Amino acid sequence: MLDRLTDQPADKILKLMQSYKEDPRDDKLDLGVGVYKDENGNTPVMRAVKKAERRILEDQTTKAYVGLAGDPDYARTMRELVLADSVAADRVAAIATPGGTGAFRQGVDLVRLANPDATFHVSAPTWPNHVSILKTTGTPFTEYRYFDAATGEVDVDGMMADLEKVAEGDVVLLHGCCHNPTGANLTGEQWSGVAELLRERGALPFVDIAYQGFGDGLDEDAAGTRILAETQPEMLIGASCSKNFGIYRERTGILFAIGDAANTKTTQGNMNHLNRQNYSFPPDHGARVVSTILDDPELRADWQAELEEMRTTMLSLRQQLADELRQRTNSDTFDFVARHRGMFSRLGIDADKVEQMRRDHRVYMVSDSRINVAGLNEATVPQLAEAIAKTCA
Ligand code: LMR
Repeated sequence: MLDRLTDQPADKILKLMQSYKEDPRDDKLDLGVGVYKDENGNTPVMRAVKKAERRILEDQTTKAYVGLAGDPDYARTMRELVLADSVAADRVAAIATPGGTGAFRQGVDLVRLANPDATFHVSAPTWPNHVSILKTTGTPFTEYRYFDAATGEVDVDGMMADLEKVAEGDVVLLHGCCHNPTGANLTGEQWSGVAELLRERGALPFVDIAYQGFGDGLDEDAAGTRILAETQPEMLIGASCSKNFGIYRERTGILFAIGDAANTKTTQGNMNHLNRQNYSFPPDHGARVVSTILDDPELRADWQAELEEMRTTMLSLRQQLADELRQRTNSDTFDFVARHRGMFSRLGIDADKVEQMRRDHRVYMVSDSRINVAGLNEATVPQLAEAIAKTCA
């Protein structure tokens, strides 16, 4: 039987990780996978996470199963973090999932249970694994315009024109903040416009929020998601704790489904069922770390302070890169890097030039020219700027 299998298409982000590892050259620059790195190139365990883990290690008396939806304290603290008071708690069903990817996958499965005919509308471009999961599950999908490569900003007119055509019951996937891979984001006013349009069309918004706190701040980054939660009869949200708590390998995510309070119990039952079918009980350790931090004022303050340091570091690296590029290219072509938010920016450079930068300058970025800003530090920004200026001259 196994001889019938054929190779799966490689995920371009993971493939790049591998070729970086295999490159024996010194001074290579990894701007590929979305992992935060400090100025020494390390991805440290956050202080509050370490403290919470110590506390859990001391206090935990059992490793028995928790429940299909995961720990209720995790669901509550994450609901408050993502949604604040934008929606009544009795309208929200939630399941813990293995990472934000797990949340997205479970959300897709939930849509397929409720409405197998629904088409997903995803931004052009979006995170490649969104597309891959939709293909794997045989879910119909199409793209809406999102990124204007000429300006490096959101093509809002194109986006709105495409969303006008969304059919009732279709699902519109939106990135809550820090759009991956482009780094270009909607303003608050534009979020309100999208919310109004989706409501008119009777579409279901599905927000993937994986970088809350990496853009403009914890509340600012959730503003678009909260506008939708306030205005839509139904919506789905997949949230990840991988980046903002730095617990990538613990696989800590959550899926929220918001609807009429009268349906919450059945929705919750279906979501629990999906967990049971796919992996039974969701992972607990990362979720417990998160709720321990969010429920303890001291740990929470320390976590927020460290997250804020990460956010402002990324902002100053963005500014430094934009300045260096302005100087070296003698143009404002790359000024958008400073306006983008989150870990990523799409530079709008052709794949062959991206390859040339890898070969000649030891710079690894995704083939669509997405860079992970958090993979830079003050000392390596000039190396990148030089590579871009020389390659694109
Ligand atoms: C990324 O886009 O680099 C991250 O979300 C990591 C991943 O799993 O692709």
